[in-house]
Amino acid sequence: MDGTPKTEGKTMPTRRAMLAGAAAFAAAPALAGWAPLDSKDPGHHAGHGTVSGQAAKTSTDGSSAAGAGSPRTGAGHMANHAGHAGFAGGSVPPERAGIDPTAILHDFDRGKTSTLPDGRTLREWDIVAVDMDFEIAPGVTFPGWSYNGRIPGPTLWAQEGDALRIHFTNAGAHPHTIHFHGIHRAEMDGTPGIGAGSIAPGQSFTYEFDATPFGTHLYHCHQSPLAPHIAKGLYGGFIIEPKEGRPKADNEMVMVMNGYNTDGGDDNEFYSVNGLPFHFMDFPVQVKQNELVRIHLINVLEYDPINSFHVHGNFFHYYPTGTMLTPSEFTDTISQVQGQRGIVELRFPYPGKYMFHAHKTEFAELGWMGFFEVGAS
Ligand code: CU
Ligand code: CA
Ligand code: CU
Repeated sequence: MDGTPKTEGKTMPTRRAMLAGAAAFAAAPALAGWAPLDSKDPGHHAGHGTVSGQAAKTSTDGSSAAGAGSPRTGAGHMANHAGHAGFAGGSVPPERAGIDPTAILHDFDRGKTSTLPDGRTLREWDIVAVDMDFEIAPGVTFPGWSYNGRIPGPTLWAQEGDALRIHFTNAGAHPHTIHFHGIHRAEMDGTPGIGAGSIAPGQSFTYEFDATPFGTHLYHCHQSPLAPHIAKGLYGGFIIEPKEGRPKADNEMVMVMNGYNTDGGDDNEFYSVNGLPFHFMDFPVQVKQNELVRIHLINVLEYDPINSFHVHGNFFHYYPTGTMLTPSEFTDTISQVQGQRGIVELRFPYPGKYMFHAHKTEFAELGWMGFFEVGAS
């Protein structure tokens, strides 16, 4: 069968094998451990929580064969992981992974600012493309291409009308670009063959344009072959705040939905928000009861045509692309194609833990799931 994982040498979990909870990963599945136990509605949620018939009967101490050789972080931490699908050990501790999705939530990079002669604000950033390995799942090393050593890259924040300069240096082994979504001149578009086009290894280029239109946008490499250049990790959020601002949010954050193709082919073996599968299962997003939560939600997922976002026990207002100040929808589930993004706004009326995840069950079971933890106000 084509889904047989290799059990020696480098860990190469195939998507099919992981979903089946097979072979090297059989010791781990047990998604069922978390869902129905504290759920008031096990019938509805069984679909989120069960990988296969065997899922429920695995060890609860978190020990397993897969990822053997990876350092562990203690029994308490591992105990939390007994309930995860697909691979052993749940999420990798951020310090070991090299990615901290919780820190990325609130990390808006406003750049270095100065004032131009015409009174406008100039924002400047240095962005460097570097090849870097990340341990995205226990024992699974992803040879990434990154902007500034992180996946996703920095979330660039500007105000509508600001002048922007992005000083890009390619320190990687392949040619890259930065293609920004926005309104700008062709030669600043980061498209190969136009203007500076591809930036060769060791070369630099400064992208220069104005911040318009306001909204929640993104940037990514546009070198061909395009799919791997994006899927290797060259992307990030690009937020343009309206000139007059938005109503103040109490808790504003960015969530970049991505995937990892760890075994070649044209499919992903892992999915995540802000770069690390299952991270928000172990480190729930902290919010307070009744506060206004604003999420800049961006889908950069390669290979799969559609991603989605669903929250439990609540509904949210959705602002597609963030380009208008009135929401278009009040819902609990939205879908985004690659490059699509928008703003999710909600308040949690009740304390407790509420799941959020791709409503595509397969993505959720391969890492794209987490919790909001609502503290009583
Ligand atoms: Cu590239
Ligand atoms: Ca694959
Ligand atoms: Cu794009």
